[in-house]
Amino acid sequence: MNNYFENILASALFKCEGIYTKDDDVRQGFSRLYSFTTENISGYIDKFDLNGKSLLTVGSSGDQVINASLFNCVDQTVVDICPYTKFYFYLKKACILSFSLKEFMDFFCYNDYPKFCHDNKDVFSKEKFEEVKDLLRVLDYESYLFWDEVFSLYKPEKVRRELFSSDEDRSFVLQGMNLYMKDEEAFSKAKVKIRGINPKFICEDIFKVNLNRTYDNVFLSNIGLYCGIDRLKELVGRLEPYVDDKMLLCYLYKTEENTKYKKDWSEIYDLKRLKSSLGEYITSFDTFCGVRGILFEDEKYDRDSVLIYEKRK
Ligand SMILES: C[S@@+](CC[C@H](N)C(=O)[O-])C[C@H]1O[C@@H](n2cnc3c(N)ncnc32)[C@H](O)[C@@H]1O
Repeated sequence: MNNYFENILASALFKCEGIYTKDDDVRQGFSRLYSFTTENISGYIDKFDLNGKSLLTVGSSGDQVINASLFNCVDQTVVDICPYTKFYFYLKKACILSFSLKEFMDFFCYNDYPKFCHDNKDVFSKEKFEEVKDLLRVLDYESYLFWDEVFSLYKPEKVRRELFSSDEDRSFVLQGMNLYMKDEEAFSKAKVKIRGINPKFICEDIFKVNLNRTYDNVFLSNIGLYCGIDRLKELVGRLEPYVDDKMLLCYLYKTEENTKYKKDWSEIYDLKRLKSSLGEYITSFDTFCGVRGILFEDEKYDRDSVLIYEKRK
C-alpha cells in the first residue's frame, strides 16, 4: 500500500469513529461522498455532444460519469476534492455489472428507502458486498481494499452516515434524474456501456488543478453555489482554454431565466449580477423539469436550469 492510499483509508476510518482531521477542513466541506447526484442530469445531458468525445467533470457520486457513458463518452476525467470518489465509482461500477436495478437500489439508496421516513437497513448489506467484491478486486484493487476494510470494521448504516453527505433524494426522484436508473432496460444498457469506462481520477481542488490537455466537454455542477459569482468567473476563465466544445458553468435549482432574486438566496441566484459578471461566457440558458418537478410529478412545479458556454469555432 502506498502512503497516499493509507492516509485516505485512515481518514475514512477516523470519520467512522467520529474523528475529524485537519484534512476535512481543507476539503471545504466536501470530504464526504454524495451517494447520488443532486441534479436532474437527465434534464440537461442531451445539450452536450458526448458521443466519442471527452469529458472533464466533478461529482463524487459517479453519476455524471455513468450517465455520460450511456452516450459512448469513454474518455472521462473526474476532478473532485472528495478523496473517496474513485473508490465509490468502482463500487458502483461493480454493482452495475453484478446486480439488477432493484438490487442496486437496495444496496445504495438509504434516505427514505424504500418507504418515506424509513432509512434502508439493507444499505451496503455485507451479503451483497460479498457478491461483488471479487469483481471489485479485479476492476480496481485500491477500491476493493478500501471498501473491504471499511465494511469489515463498521456497520453499513454507520458507513452511510459518516462517509456520505445526507443529501439524497427519494428513490423515484433519483430514477428521474439518472438515465441509467430509469428502468431495468436502461440499467441493462448501462451494464454494457460502463464496462469500458475507467476514468482518470484527480483528487484536487479544481481551482488549483493543472490540466495538461483539453476536453470536448466540462461539467462544473453547482460549484458556483458554494464559491459565489466572482470565484466562479475566475474558475471559468482558468478552465476556458482547456475546453474544446462546451462547458456547463453552473446548475441552478428552481430557476428560469426570468426568476426574480430574493435577498436570502445564495448569491449565484442573482441572475442579473451573474449575467453581467459571466456574460461573455454564457452562450445559453437551458431550462428543464427541476428536481422538485420530478418529486411532485409536475414539470411546472419547479424548473431547473444550466448555464452553458459554447466555444465559438
Ligand atoms: C458542488 S457538489 C454538489 C453535488 C452535485 N450537485 C452533484 O450532483 O454531484 C459537486 C461536487 O463538487 C465537488 N467539489 C466541490 N468543491 C470542489 C473543489 N473546489 N474542487 C473539486 N471538487 C469540488 C464535491 O466534492 C462534489 O462531488
